[in-house]
Amino acid sequence: MPANGTPRSVRITGWGMYAPERVLTNTDLERVVDTSDEWIQTRTGIRERRIAAPHETTATLSAIAAKRAIAVAGLEPDDIDVILVATLTPDYWMPSTGALVKEAIGNTTAAAMDVMAACSGFVYAYSVADAYIRSGMFRNALVIGAETLSRFLDYSDRGTCILFGDGAGAVVLSASDQEGGGLQGLEMTTDPDGAYMIWLPSGGSRSPASGQTLARGEHFVRMEGKETYRFATKTMATTALKAIDRAGWKPEEIDLFIPHQANIRIIESVAKGLGLPMDKMFVNLDRYGNTSAASVPIALAEAVDSGRIKIGDKVVLVAFGAGLTSGGIAMEWTADPSCGQRAASVKPEASVREPQDWSSVDAIPDRLKRVLEGGGPPVPLDDVVPGEPEHAKREVLA
Ligand code: ACO
Repeated sequence: MPANGTPRSVRITGWGMYAPERVLTNTDLERVVDTSDEWIQTRTGIRERRIAAPHETTATLSAIAAKRAIAVAGLEPDDIDVILVATLTPDYWMPSTGALVKEAIGNTTAAAMDVMAACSGFVYAYSVADAYIRSGMFRNALVIGAETLSRFLDYSDRGTCILFGDGAGAVVLSASDQEGGGLQGLEMTTDPDGAYMIWLPSGGSRSPASGQTLARGEHFVRMEGKETYRFATKTMATTALKAIDRAGWKPEEIDLFIPHQANIRIIESVAKGLGLPMDKMFVNLDRYGNTSAASVPIALAEAVDSGRIKIGDKVVLVAFGAGLTSGGIAMEWTADPSCGQRAASVKPEASVREPQDWSSVDAIPDRLKRVLEGGGPPVPLDDVVPGEPEHAKREVLA
């Protein structure tokens, strides 16, 4: 629905999140890979993460978070003009997850699409929605960050499977006739030098899915942890600083940072880099791990609902991820935090259209299922494909 004229500002009017019920603790992971609760907590700060139930997908998680954000904004589903889903774990390559979410939230009018910028995806999608509304094209945009990373992890790779979790967060951005508030400074970077530091090798046009790619475990996330860590500690503070500078602010004026929840040591280094105490950094990675594109909107919703953000606060969202990408938004918060209570009226249920004459195979990876069901680790096999790199030589994977 095209808007009439350009707004004076673009503001967050609704927010919401959803995390699946099932908790996977570090102790659970001790039964899957050679790791320990102590190692994971010391090196990452993560204690537990959430795992989507078999019937849940990125679209269903998105729809619940989105319905909550729309309720908080005091809008009806059809008030939303455009839906953007930031995700690297869509339900399918096509249709877009956004298209499925549109129907699941009861919207009949919006344009819908996905945005792919890995863990920076929510910040990127937010900037797109903000620009649409600023231009006068749309009045209300729904921006979602959602992931079911548990479906794309190799639960024999201790370097990745301990880090990630599932969840979704959403905001509604709306045109306002009042001056000020909302996004004041934006910075986004993309550096293909690190394109293969975090990647998922097969299933795309470079290496279509086949029996061979499956046997090599190329349908799982791969990561150079140390290199990614180095990039993150370098880029998070500079990205945040540029966004803050563009807003005409100083770091010490910021009331709260919502950093991508990847690793507590990365967040500590951001605080150090900006010369700020850790109490300016919102942290919830201990409970959710790294939920990629969902991490910032989940943290934002929790920060508002727990009283950490009030009207007039200067807030910075900052993320980094595969690409390598980074994104920072310096914004002024304008919404009444008490509106967050409206989310309680939305049940954690979502119905996404099913395909006809087709049903998926069991969604949960075998190794993970055994742990969720309380069984032991799978029996290791020697070598899957002779001559393959170390990573591929683990066990036969689901
Ligand atoms: N449990 C026990 N030991 C482990 C584990 C584990 N889960 N993982 C690695 N180790 C071992 C290593 O094998 C190594 O052993 P060695 O010294 O005998 O060789 C030792 O622990 C140290 O390993 P490092 O890789 O040096 O550990 P580090 O302190 O760098 O921590 C980590 C690893 C947590 C992955 C860290 O590098 C990190 O957080 N990197 C950033 C990852 C990240 O943020 N990714 C976000 C991606 S965003 C997106 O777009 C998806």
